[in-house]
Amino acid sequence: MRVYEKRLDIEQDVAAIRKQNKSIGFVPTMGALHKGHLGLVQKAIDENDVVIVSIFVNPTQFNNSEDLVNYPRTLESDVQLISSISTEILIFAPSSDEVYDGETKSIKYNFNGLELEMEGKFRPGHFDGVGTVLKHLFTITSPTRAYFGEKDFQQLQIVKKLVSIEKMSVKIIGCPIYREESGLALSSRNKRLNQQQLEAAPLIYRVLTQVNHDFGTKSVDTLYRWVKDQFTNTDILKLEYFEIAKVSDLKSITRKQKNTKYRAFIAVFAGEVRLIDNIALN
Ligand code: PAF
Repeated sequence: MRVYEKRLDIEQDVAAIRKQNKSIGFVPTMGALHKGHLGLVQKAIDENDVVIVSIFVNPTQFNNSEDLVNYPRTLESDVQLISSISTEILIFAPSSDEVYDGETKSIKYNFNGLELEMEGKFRPGHFDGVGTVLKHLFTITSPTRAYFGEKDFQQLQIVKKLVSIEKMSVKIIGCPIYREESGLALSSRNKRLNQQQLEAAPLIYRVLTQVNHDFGTKSVDTLYRWVKDQFTNTDILKLEYFEIAKVSDLKSITRKQKNTKYRAFIAVFAGEVRLIDNIALN
């Protein structure tokens, strides 16, 4: 199992792989890996000759410094988990200086307004950070395909936009959300939930499932009010936002229109831990 820390080392091996006309599947992560990540890795293995997984907690995408400090860092067990699938995978676990070449700052992007909706409203600068780190990581790993979970659906749409802005040839592949049996979407942040929060958090998916069920028969306004009510009875979960938005531009709606694809998005705090989820409607 090879763990690269230096950009130059992995770039050299990537160049050799590319010379042999082999495809590269890339799974960018911030570590604290769970079954959802492993699903992405498995898909990358199935579809490519070589797989690279990056493990890098990207400072520029955190708008909250406490969240950055508390983000779980579990490199040793992450490497073990990856090697339980395959020891052929290349792991890139760099420092900030390696990724950012000594200047850890974001590029200011215009993602056609996608960056201003939902997460963008509550996490200013977040998507500039995501776009910037992915631009660097795609340049270093030169992937044929890169894999992202739909849990961060807004991120997935923005990454597709990023590669068109930056004219990169990587194909972006979205993968379904992995869930606990309780319905709670898998997330590295779940590791920070206490028992009481873990028991309460499945409400998030129950609410989304009900919204999906009622979407055809109830008005958008009724659904917004119903969702808000579900979180007034619990002190453990605090609703930050719930939005029904068009898939095309992620703008939230007040009325449904024909022939339009929608998704419901939610962000909830369990104590200090921020959880997001979403579901396809119609
Ligand atoms: O989704 C994540 O874990 C991160 O936003 C990503 C894509 C690895 C960029 O740091």
